[in-house]
Amino acid sequence: MYDKDFFHIQIRSLSSKDSIPFDVYIKINDKKVHYLKAGDKFDDNKIIQFQTKASESFFIRAEDKLTYKSFIQKKLSSDDFSSHEKAQILRDSSMSLIEELFESPTVEDALKGSQQVIDNFMNFMDDDPDAVSQLVKLSSHDFYTYNHSLDVGIYSLGLGRILGFSGDELQELGEGALIHDIGKRQVHVDIITKDGPLDELEWLQMRKHPQYGLQILNDFDVSNAIKACCFEHHENMMGTGYPQKLPGSEIHPFARIIAITDTYDALTTQRTYNVPMTPEEALNFMKGKLKGKYDEDFLEAMYSVLFKLKAKEKAS
Ligand SMILES: [Fe+2]
Ligand SMILES: [Fe+2]
Repeated sequence: MYDKDFFHIQIRSLSSKDSIPFDVYIKINDKKVHYLKAGDKFDDNKIIQFQTKASESFFIRAEDKLTYKSFIQKKLSSDDFSSHEKAQILRDSSMSLIEELFESPTVEDALKGSQQVIDNFMNFMDDDPDAVSQLVKLSSHDFYTYNHSLDVGIYSLGLGRILGFSGDELQELGEGALIHDIGKRQVHVDIITKDGPLDELEWLQMRKHPQYGLQILNDFDVSNAIKACCFEHHENMMGTGYPQKLPGSEIHPFARIIAITDTYDALTTQRTYNVPMTPEEALNFMKGKLKGKYDEDFLEAMYSVLFKLKAKEKAS
């Protein structure tokens, strides 16, 4: 249940050599119980214990969000953490903002949150040559809207950068990728979380999420490119996609990128009723069985995003 007075955090993001500068609460039987006073230290062993038992239950007060943000920034710019640890901290702290994207009643706050997440990712990518590979390694392969959004955001930043986008454009692509499924806010939660294939009526609802997304964004000052990420990511190059059956040449390049990263994430993700494909299998499937649906040059570049990283891993 969304609670505007509290902000859900990932326990792992609290790992620190210093004391924690805000109070921490733990949810027990739907009540937030005061757990840690600002100024106390959180023992790393305890974090590991909680990580396995009650990782979903930690909160801070909403008014401490800024303090939490600078606590995270400080960790990201410190030399105490490896690039792998920083990627993990970034992912864990972003997850809270992504949750808001789907749960917060005020879309405006959620949109600001998505800008912040991409800002953090871009800074990390600028500072650390291994950033993309570290972030891709942490992909959750877990089909949960929040993880999915984050993974599509990360893959799209990687693919966009290889395709030559940078600066404000890359930022816009990242934000669009992060919120590409924002229209799912309007689809019933039972359909979103259903453990199994959807029936026809449920599909009809689900397939409306690009329109819902556009409707949501039309009320805000959002660029056309970001709107296209939401509205056009289920179009395909053969002109048989939805909702508009746009011919390939009319699909926004960002939506063509997200069509690839979105399908790739779905194919490599564990759901209750499927066996996830390996990265190679997924891309070969898209190139073979789904031939013609994706921008061929972009799909080819996706191989470099994923396998150049692999080659680099092997070499190191
Ligand atoms: Fe979608
Ligand atoms: Fe999606």
